[in-house]
Amino acid sequence: MPQIESPAFFIGKGTADNEALLSFGSGQPDLPPPPSAYNILQSYRGFKYGLVQGELTLREAIAGEYPSATPEEIVVTNGASEAIDLVLRAISVPGGRVALPRPYYYSYPHNVTLAGMTPVFYDLDEGKINYETFERVVQGCRAVMINSPSNPTGTVQDVATLRKIEELCNNLGIYVLSDEVYKDLIYVRENYPLKGKRVVTINSFSKTYAMCGLRLGYFHTLDRELVAKVVDMKSHTSMNTSIASQAMGLAAMSERATYVASHLPIWEKRRDTMYQGLVDLGLDLWKPEGAFYVLPAIKNSTRAMHDLYYNYSLITYDGTWFGAKDRLRFSYALDEKKIGEGLARLAKFLDTEYRAYA
Ligand SMILES: Cc1ncc(COP(=O)(O)O)c(C=O)c1O
Repeated sequence: MPQIESPAFFIGKGTADNEALLSFGSGQPDLPPPPSAYNILQSYRGFKYGLVQGELTLREAIAGEYPSATPEEIVVTNGASEAIDLVLRAISVPGGRVALPRPYYYSYPHNVTLAGMTPVFYDLDEGKINYETFERVVQGCRAVMINSPSNPTGTVQDVATLRKIEELCNNLGIYVLSDEVYKDLIYVRENYPLKGKRVVTINSFSKTYAMCGLRLGYFHTLDRELVAKVVDMKSHTSMNTSIASQAMGLAAMSERATYVASHLPIWEKRRDTMYQGLVDLGLDLWKPEGAFYVLPAIKNSTRAMHDLYYNYSLITYDGTWFGAKDRLRFSYALDEKKIGEGLARLAKFLDTEYRAYA
């Protein structure tokens, strides 16, 4: 049995080789995207290069979602992933440090290192930012990453803390990369978009519109020099983001309000089923306030992930990939029936192999 070293082993895996496979792994919504997104395809005929910064019509629509934003302040990217990568590379300085939350989204430390900088960490308390810790760690940093709601903790940061962070980072002249890809999946309050001269708001169509595979994301910033630098870099790397994806994304946005409003209760119900199911199994975890993840404590999470995959055809992600030792991350982007089936397999595992763990 091959060792599972990283999420790459699981990303994109389906039931082609194993019909019984059930995935609490990848964070991809199972629900269909807004029909407007694919209804355009029958008559879609765009195959030429597009603007490197992103099609103007799409940037205009995105700008409409941010108070007083303009299309010039937006860059359309291959998912939030490319936005994070390009922005970090564009602001990279020799010896630069970037403060990351811990637990973190598994790509962040790699993104920082690939950009030639060094990750440093502010540890979360029960998934929440401890402002004193944050203030201490960010001194002298080039940038900080904020991720609320968070992957993998599912927690949402308090608005009061976010406001203090805005002020601190503004005074220190630090870039704030605010990864808000779960902004439309919050169960406890409205989203609070971070603001400031050096704030870069990163977003995606992957989660809001269930369009992960189309690779459509963007960022917004008031820093026009940063926009110019990123567009220049992108013209030498991926060039334009797929124009078909952009056209589908624009069409999806026309259904935004009804789509998001009708899906939130579905996610909330799944959250309740998953949370209660894990509590009933005796696991220790935080109740998710947003996104679709839980991160319960599990002894020897690496071994547990292997046992669950090879013995129960159940995909989970090792907490160590997220800087969370002895925890397993579950994505509950599945229908209620599959969540129930997955919990039943987990229950069996906890009652058998897991009992022998030291
Ligand atoms: C916190 C966070 N940021 C970024 C991404 C990447 O998103 P995209 O599909 O838009 O590249 C993900 C995907 O799971 C995520 O959870």
